[in-house]
Parts: sequence; C-alpha cells; structure tokens
Amino acid sequence: MSDHQPGTSGNRLPIAARIIAIANQKGGVGKTTTAVNLATALAQAGHPVLLIDLDPQGNASTGLGIDRRDRPAGTYAMLVEDAPPASLIMPTLVKLLDIIPADPDLAGAEVELVSLDRREFRLRTALGALSGSRYAQIVIDCPPSLGLLTLNGLVAAGAVLVPLQCEFFALEGISQLVRTIERVKKNLNPGLSLQGIVLTMFDRRNNLSDLVAADARSFFGDRVYQTVIPRNVRISEAPSHGKPVLLYDSRSPGALAYIQLAHEFLQREGAVAA
Ligand SMILES: Nc1ncnc2c1ncn2[C@@H]1O[C@H](COP(=O)(O)OP(=O)(O)O)[C@@H](O)[C@H]1O
Ligand SMILES: [Mg+2]
Repeated sequence: MSDHQPGTSGNRLPIAARIIAIANQKGGVGKTTTAVNLATALAQAGHPVLLIDLDPQGNASTGLGIDRRDRPAGTYAMLVEDAPPASLIMPTLVKLLDIIPADPDLAGAEVELVSLDRREFRLRTALGALSGSRYAQIVIDCPPSLGLLTLNGLVAAGAVLVPLQCEFFALEGISQLVRTIERVKKNLNPGLSLQGIVLTMFDRRNNLSDLVAADARSFFGDRVYQTVIPRNVRISEAPSHGKPVLLYDSRSPGALAYIQLAHEFLQREGAVAA
C-alpha cells in the first residue's frame, strides 16, 4: 500500500522516532556515558538524535558542552510546566545531535510530579508533540533511582537499555530493575521491552569482570550486547572537556567501543542489515 503524500519528499521526511531509555537505579554504572556516546555515535552514523537529560545532576548536558549557566529551561519546564519540547531543544557540538537539557529546577520535579495529573505520563505526552519531527532516535538519560523521573522515562520509551557495570553485586541490583520494567509493562506501557544490557567498565585484567560478564550472559542470554565497553581513562576524562569521548579522542578504545555498540544497536533495531 502506498502512503506517499505530495510535498513530503526530501530529507525532512518525518520519521517515527524510536524512544530508548537508558536506565539502572544504581549510580555510576555508565548510564550517562552510554547515553551521550551512543547518541553521538548514532548521530555520526547519519541518524538525527534527540537526547533527553532526565537526571537532575545534568551530567549528560554538561558532558555535551552545555554549561549549567546556559540552560534557560529544559526537562523540568517540559514535565512540570507543560513547556512544548520543541521550544526547549538545543543543538550540541555534535552534528545531528540535539538535546533537551536538565534545568537546575529538575531536582524538585521528583516531588512536584507527585501531585500532578497523570504524573507517570508527563514525558510520554510531551514527547508526543515531537512525532513527525526529524529525529530517528530519542535517547533518555535516566537518573539513578526508580522514582517518578525514571518512571516517566520508562512510560515514554519503547525500549530500555541497561548499562551493567562489571562488578560484584551488579546482577542483584538488576533484578529489581527487571521487576520494575515488568510492572511498567503490565500497568502503564505495554509496548515497553528490555532491548538490551550493555556491560560497562570491563577490565580484562580483573577476573571479576569476566565472572560478571559470564553470569550476565548465562542469565540474560543474547539480550546482553556482544560489544563490551572497556574501562578506559579517556572516557572518564572527556566530560570535563564538555565532549563525548568520540570527539575527545576518536581513536581511544572507549570511542571505538561506543561506535561498535551503535552498530550493534542499529542491527537490533533493524536499521541496517545484520
Ligand atoms: N568505560 C568507562 N571507563 C572509565 N570510566 C568510565 C567508563 N564509563 C563511565 N566512566 C566514568 O564513571 C563515572 C560514572 O559514569 P556515568 O556514566 O556518569 O554513570 P551513571 O550515569 O550511571 O551515574 C563517570 O565519572 C564516568 O566518566
Ligand atoms: Mg548519570
């Protein structure tokens, strides 16, 4: 069946954005690093991406060179004050990658959302206004908790990507997250799926990294990405320069791993032939 319409040809052809939430209630496991660098790698591969910074710490915004002072309004205004998302979008230093930054008020949102109507659906409703926009992918960087901000991320998304740090107890934490995803799926967002698990901060000199990786693979099977993100000092240096590692040191092992992750991500999404 043809659904071609006159006047919609050209590179601004509206595409349905896929929305992916990067979530894990543990802090410091590589959510923001993965959100920023996966988004950058996808943009560099030619896919227009919008990153949503849902963490009051605003590390994704800072890591993309958007200083706290330069953030007039962002996700707080969108979630709590009904500001239209299109008015909050800012370009980043990465071509084809835009962001809705975390504004300094976002820390209050977790409490203020409680009394709002349809509090779990605020982000989903807001992002609905972007349907038909030029973005091929929307990436949501969730905060380190399972509170209302993360819940908004999970209700808005079609899929969740879980970064798993290769350390002791990593799998215990993830079972709570998996239960939360199942609950959201059952009650609030039937379309949600656990798209994948990505092993982060892998240290090949450390036997524990291998053990955690093997455990994760035996438990979650091929939902665990083949690509593993190594522990790499260039990754941790990049944010203080306000840059994704792909721009800070494009040939570092960390940058190469995120490029490979993006490739595998696109294969999973069916955007390139496997
Ligand atoms: N693969 C890695 N190698 C080295 N440092 C990393 C790596 N991934 C993340 N980091 C660093 O670890 C810290 C926590 O990562 P971050 O992505 O902010 O975690 P989260 O968003 O889950 O709290 C940051 O300082 C980050 O730069
Ligand atoms: Mg973070």
